[in-house]
Amino acid sequence: MTTVTVSTSPAVSLRVDAIVIGVAKGPQGPVLAPGAETVAEAFDGALVEILGRLGVSGAEGEVVKLPSPDGVEAGVVLAVGLGEAVNSGAYDAENLREAAGVAARSLAGMGKAALALPVETAEAAQAVALGALLGAYAFTAYRTIGNAKAPVGELTILTDHRGHTSAKVGAQRATVIHREVNRCRDLVNMPANDLTPESFAVTVRAVGEEYRLEVEVLDDKALTEGSFGGILGVGQGSANPPRLVKIAYSHPEAQTNLAFVGKGITYDSGGISLKPVGFNEIMKRDMSGAAAVFAAVAAISRLGLRINVTGWLALAENMPSGSATRPGDVLRMYGGKTVEVLNTDAEGRVVLADALVRAGEEKPDAIVDVATLTAAMRMALGNRIFGVMSNNDDFRNRVLDAARRAGEQAWPLPLPAQLRKSLNSRVADIANTGERMGGGLVAGLFLREFVPDGTDWAHLDIAGPAFHEGASYGYTPEGGTGSAVRTLVQLAEDIAGDRRPTDDHPRRTGTV
Ligand code: BES
Ligand code: MN
Ligand code: ZN
Repeated sequence: MTTVTVSTSPAVSLRVDAIVIGVAKGPQGPVLAPGAETVAEAFDGALVEILGRLGVSGAEGEVVKLPSPDGVEAGVVLAVGLGEAVNSGAYDAENLREAAGVAARSLAGMGKAALALPVETAEAAQAVALGALLGAYAFTAYRTIGNAKAPVGELTILTDHRGHTSAKVGAQRATVIHREVNRCRDLVNMPANDLTPESFAVTVRAVGEEYRLEVEVLDDKALTEGSFGGILGVGQGSANPPRLVKIAYSHPEAQTNLAFVGKGITYDSGGISLKPVGFNEIMKRDMSGAAAVFAAVAAISRLGLRINVTGWLALAENMPSGSATRPGDVLRMYGGKTVEVLNTDAEGRVVLADALVRAGEEKPDAIVDVATLTAAMRMALGNRIFGVMSNNDDFRNRVLDAARRAGEQAWPLPLPAQLRKSLNSRVADIANTGERMGGGLVAGLFLREFVPDGTDWAHLDIAGPAFHEGASYGYTPEGGTGSAVRTLVQLAEDIAGDRRPTDDHPRRTGTV
């Protein structure tokens, strides 16, 4: 695993394989970002011209490798684009994360590298550390052949004496968050023949012991005894029985209790309402919400935040078989409501309903659920933005504010009352599907029925951003992305510190 340290040594004298510098888009071509000064001197003032001749503009995502001149210990200088040059103040944290991520990926195969990027504030140092660590990720657990390069081993963030202490704090926090985001990514990338509800629960138990968290696993027998008809109904067609896992962190001085609920369908075939070819081979990702909740609780505990957080992972495999739930069946949910299953492929909301009711019993101040819930959400917002729905506009804004500052793209969506009647069932209290148009909102309306009145609740539909199908970019790898982990951690941190949404870093209107 890649590690990060902080140093005040001059970049040119470090015995590393490469030095990373920042190049930004100036009004008349590329300009060097603060941090690159000593490296630029070693090039005798010719560095900007060399970069210009190589076609470097300083745009985001750009990266070039140069052989080092005399006077630089490292063999290679790697210039990475930061986007528009910033004259006063600091570079945007997300630009720094993206640039550091691009750099770290280009450093694969090397042992050690130093990052001489503009880190004037603690936030900037943390952004560089986190972007680099997240960008260095590669999922290689299942490769036995091939020549995939190992991620860069050791990264050193260079800072001046003034920024040293805060950079260290930032690097430590980044180390914690990256470890847990990567835990989430690993789980999402793990194929469903190895990640079953049972093996997922075993992993949570092991981490719970390591981190001293309370873990409670309800197996299929306990779920039957407890009348969790939703989770059982979805899981009953599979040879791998379902689980409901509780993982709880508490702080002695906590004033707030948060509940996170995650959709953990370890594989979604659609069930009897089977998905067609082209849609079913991508469905190991359907436990991304549960993985995000698990990782976020783990990170919050490692950060020692002054808050109580309980994660609820609704784990099941949605398979067709002779014992599977049929379209038309009625399930008796945890808490007693009945649900007519019109489409067994709308299974996420069914397992979440049980978990939401169970989470609500503990009277948390707020509940946030995270789920790869609907294809409609991908149609609406694309593959990089998650939708946020809520029963309380202030709480929804709080979640969106946390997402923005954590560097995750999120956008608010409504829960229109007029769509609710489309979920009316001829035989049961509610049906699991309704109007197809606005399908993501209809799913949100279904979930809302299982949230206790008066409890703040937000629903994050991460069906788009949970899994990245294209080539890696910035600090986002192919495959599992760790979507929502950083938002949940930021939200917990805000609530623990009683931070209210502000507009301290406004972005262009209409951008996330
Ligand atoms: N897990 C899927 C949603 C999904 C699709 C997530 C693609 C990620 C990528 C979910 O269980 C599902 O199948 N939803 C259906 C609901 C419909 C039957 C009402 C959908 O969105 O098509
Ligand atoms: Mn489904
Ligand atoms: Zn699903």
